[in-house]
Amino acid sequence: MDLELSELNPAEADAAMAVVKESFEACVAPDYAQQGRDLFAQVVTADYLRSLPHRQGFTLVAKLDGRMVGMCALRDGHHVTLFFVLPEFQGRGIGRRLFDSAVERVRRNVSGVTKLEVHSSPVAVSIYQALGFSITGPEKVDDGIRYIPMERLLGPGSNTSMDYR
Ligand SMILES: CC(C)(COP(=O)(O)OP(=O)(O)OC[C@H]1O[C@@H](n2cnc3c(N)ncnc32)[C@H](O)[C@@H]1OP(=O)(O)O)[C@@H](O)C(=O)NCCC(=O)NCCS
Repeated sequence: MDLELSELNPAEADAAMAVVKESFEACVAPDYAQQGRDLFAQVVTADYLRSLPHRQGFTLVAKLDGRMVGMCALRDGHHVTLFFVLPEFQGRGIGRRLFDSAVERVRRNVSGVTKLEVHSSPVAVSIYQALGFSITGPEKVDDGIRYIPMERLLGPGSNTSMDYR
């Protein structure tokens, strides 16, 4: 498997959004009320991805033989905001590679961050647990979006470098 990980080139934001949309529709939307699906479509856009570097965030993308198949995005230094792999490529370790790379990037580049947080979709809880996250509260529903709050300590050896600018 020739998997290449890189930071999102803003010109590729539409391709990354195509990954998000396909995976969201197949795996996450069935658990949401229509209001939540509409809100997700309204908020999660190519412009949102392009805004992340200005919000203490970044997006990593995974390409398999040149085709974009997955992405992981953080904001506010510590919050996993989007994490999607195309359904046909799930369960092959691509999410693990993306996530580990994102953790390393936070450890290298963001000071003062001791843990990562995520609002997990119901379907992804066991995957986040495999990635070291624990549930921190009961499931919530905000504007039709169902999520389970989770966090993962970064552990020693992190946060040794400079802030994002
Ligand atoms: C979440 C997602 C990005 C993970 O990507 P992926 O490529 O499928 O993940 P991987 O195959 O690398 O698996 C990651 C870890 O979860 C484990 N895992 C995978 N599927 C699992 C399942 N159904 N139950 C429990 N653990 C699972 C894997 O064993 C792996 O752990 P390991 O590295 O210790 O073996 C992907 O499944 C996805 O797009 N899901 C739908 C969208 C979604 O819900 N995203 C989260 C939004 S908050």
